[in-house]
Order: sequence, then C-alpha cells, then structure tokens
Amino acid sequence: MGTDLLIQRTRGGALRAALPVREAHGIVWAGRSHDRTPPSWELPPPTGDFAGPRTFRAVELAGHPQDVMENFIDHRHVVELHGVDFLDILTAPEGDGPFYSLTVRVGRSLPFFSTVQDIGIRYFGLGAALMTIDVPRCHLRAAQWVLVTPVGPGRIRYCLAASAALDPLLRIPPAPRRALERAVAAGMNRWSFHDSRADWPVFHHKAYLPHPRLNGEDGPIGAYRHWARQFYPVAPG
Ligand SMILES: [Fe+2]
Repeated sequence: MGTDLLIQRTRGGALRAALPVREAHGIVWAGRSHDRTPPSWELPPPTGDFAGPRTFRAVELAGHPQDVMENFIDHRHVVELHGVDFLDILTAPEGDGPFYSLTVRVGRSLPFFSTVQDIGIRYFGLGAALMTIDVPRCHLRAAQWVLVTPVGPGRIRYCLAASAALDPLLRIPPAPRRALERAVAAGMNRWSFHDSRADWPVFHHKAYLPHPRLNGEDGPIGAYRHWARQFYPVAPG
C-alpha cells in the first residue's frame, strides 16, 4: 500500500488531470490541490480489526465536500431533518494537523425500540470521515466511511462505504463470519444512504456566506470551520 501512481481522469474522452493516488484502508485516495502540488500529509495506518469497506454506494450530487462534513456535527439539523432525539458531544473536537476527531452520543427512537449509541468520528482532511460504532450487546464493531470527491464546480460524488467486525472471541467459522459481517455492513450502508437523502436538497440549495452567524445550538461548526481553513489557499493581501 502507499504506492505512488498517477491516475488519468477523463470526462467525455478528454484528459483532465493526472493525480497522485494512494491505496489505504481498502480505498483508493486521490490528492488534488489548487496549485497542483502533491499532498503534504499521509493517511494514518488503519486501527482496529476492520479489513476495509465491504460495501460501497455512491451518487453524484450538487454540493461541496465541506457541506457534507459539517453535517455530522450540526447538532440541530439531525433533530429536525433526521428525526434524531438528541446528539451530545462526549469528547470535545480535537484537531491534529489534517485530522479532526470527536465522539458523540446519538439517541434515536425507532418504530419498535430506541437506541443510544456512542459514535467516534474522525475526519481525514476535507474529503473523508470515518465513524466507528461499538455495539457490545451484539459483539460487533462497525465502521461507516463518508467519502466526498469534488467532480466539478458545485458538484460532488458522495460515497458511503461500510465494514463490520464481529468479536474475534465468538466461535463462528470463517466463511459464515465473513458473510455475517458483510451482511451487517451492507445493511448499515443501505440505511445510512437512505438517511442521507434528507440532506441532498439542503446541499443543493445551500449558499456560501463569508461571515455566517452561528448560535449555541449549531454545535462545534465554528471550531470545525476554523480547523478546515488549512485546506484552502490563503486569500491574497
Ligand atoms: Fe444530515
């Protein structure tokens, strides 16, 4: 992994760009900057026992990568738009260079039961977020990737990918274990994709404001935006 390659991306048969790429976490990553310089940071090695995403779903949408990433720390909208009962921050957001981490607790009432789940969120630059979920009562850990690729002005490719890992101590033969993990990952990814549909019209209609006003119920969006400035060119003057 970590092999330097060049990928040539075409649309309508025309050569558009040559980009440095890496393969890591079971995903191919392409780096692109406004001044065509190579990426200044590397992806960290995977942690935990996930073998990479087992299932992917993608769609092209109107939007911007940062719209998608802010979505996971916009507390108020998850109540109004996604029907979540509450979202609390358990560990404060922490920036570490191109990475940004926090832990949240999400409560949701479903038709036949309610869930309260702690979710670790880690951002990798502007284009990727990894959410990890432990479900001890099911002897399960799950990982949900959100991957956003800008494909044109105001257009993004929005991709969800997931994996799941059963407790290694569970006595399940390898083949059914893999099948069960794949089924769990596929179900979670399908649900996440369905849930995300509520965001798509918002992404489509959002407008950029240079100095938007935030209030206390917006969560740590302001802190996130401060961290995200590092990925944009410095304005001249
Ligand atoms: Fe959302």
